Amino acid sequence: MSMLSPKDILSRKGGERLAMLTAYDYPSAVAVDRCGLDLILVGDSLAEVELGHSSTRAIGLAEMVHHVRAVRRGVTETHVVADMPAGSYEDPAQAVASAASLIEAGGDSVKLEGALVPQVEAIIGAGIPVMGHVGLLPQTAISYRKQGTSPDTAAQILSDARRLDAAGVYAIVIEAVPDDLAAEITAAVGAPTIGIAAGADTDGQVQVITDLLGLLPDAPGHAERRADLFSQTVRAVAEYAEDVRRPPVPTLE
Ligand code: KIV
Repeated sequence: MSMLSPKDILSRKGGERLAMLTAYDYPSAVAVDRCGLDLILVGDSLAEVELGHSSTRAIGLAEMVHHVRAVRRGVTETHVVADMPAGSYEDPAQAVASAASLIEAGGDSVKLEGALVPQVEAIIGAGIPVMGHVGLLPQTAISYRKQGTSPDTAAQILSDARRLDAAGVYAIVIEAVPDDLAAEITAAVGAPTIGIAAGADTDGQVQVITDLLGLLPDAPGHAERRADLFSQTVRAVAEYAEDVRRPPVPTLE
């Protein structure tokens, strides 16, 4: 499969669903590039699941650039989306400069959180494709819980998605909203929607690789755990340590 362009991704609206997964480093990038994914997201979730911080706000542009470079070295077949970290898109000029450094590091497009239309328009105006992100916005959320559960907040999220769509994003992540709201947004916008904890009625889905592969003992409730690599790692390394300490079997003269 050849790498999808933002135009290819837009054309999947209402068609075959888009499969997106995060990756943060070279070994996982090499592996997931062989899996027929449509998009790989170097998400700022790496602050939490890869670097052990308690918030995605803990990392900045230099760290994201470092991880995007590592992923790019391992990916030749899949579109790489580089997440813009908190504090890197406070105004349109800063947003363009930050997006340009993520593209220079190897991203094919960038993603940012919220309906920051002037920033989105400026980045797109500079020739860089943008993925939007509505619903739960971890960079500014006080706690990680379902969003859009009241009529007012649901209307606000729908309006955010519409504004991003009108600004020209090529896809929109919808995170942690009720299934019916995600379906309503998906029907209302021209860009394909990619859900996480948002039901099945979106144009695609994204998961965090750490959750999917069970790389840590715990994962959020919405995670699709398809392997338990944490247990396998502990078992393999413990067996290795035991074998190294085992006294050598005496050899007969
Ligand atoms: O940073 C990330 O991994 C994300 C996804 C949860 C969409 O933004």
